[in-house]
Amino acid sequence: MYPNPQLSAFEQISQRRSVRAMDLQAPGPDQAQIDQLLHAAARVPDHGKLGPWRFICFQDDGREAFGEHLAQRFHELKPEAPLPAIEAERGRFVRAPLVIAVISSVQAQSRIPEWEQLLSAGAACQNLLIAANLMGFAAQWLTEWYAYDEVIDQKLGLNVGERVAGFVYIGSASAKPDERQRPDLQQRIQHWNES
Ligand SMILES: Cc1cc2nc3c(=O)[nH]c(=O)nc-3n(C[C@H](O)[C@H](O)[C@H](O)COP(=O)(O)O)c2cc1C
Repeated sequence: MYPNPQLSAFEQISQRRSVRAMDLQAPGPDQAQIDQLLHAAARVPDHGKLGPWRFICFQDDGREAFGEHLAQRFHELKPEAPLPAIEAERGRFVRAPLVIAVISSVQAQSRIPEWEQLLSAGAACQNLLIAANLMGFAAQWLTEWYAYDEVIDQKLGLNVGERVAGFVYIGSASAKPDERQRPDLQQRIQHWNES
């Protein structure tokens, strides 16, 4: 079973794995759990207390409705695409019971550097993944092509200074994820020594 509820929070974070969106099934979080997840997601470091992020939740029919926009835009971009490819786009958001779009909302006029505001949105995505795991759900943080498309941005209602930090897919794992190759951590750790 993934995630394993027997493990401590520290163990869960240390062994965290994403579960592919296509392997996320019902049940997903109920409304009270979604509220808790969003509360945890927002509990991130935030220089200047700007709250430079917001969340758009896709559940139930909302997922299919948004899939129509994805299919339409995909067809527009790739008129030669075969029907099955367009249908796959239509079905993207129904891969999981819940998709949360984490929107980075940068305030350009702020004294806080844009970089730090973007990092805070990334932290919100990661908090969401971890909170979902600790609640017993599996999750995956995806961007795919539609996080980088201006027409989709418009459909999402993004304002100036906003972009998609990630679509976090959440549900119950239908398969336990295998371990994957990890970067060599020792190569990435330095202990500072002036001499
Ligand atoms: C900002 C961001 C965007 C990502 N977008 C994608 C994506 O579009 N497609 C994909 O296969 N993985 C994407 N990933 C990677 C997965 O979320 C995941 O980290 C990867 O499959 C490795 O699994 P792990 O999280 O268990 O190590 C993205 C990760 C980040 C941080």
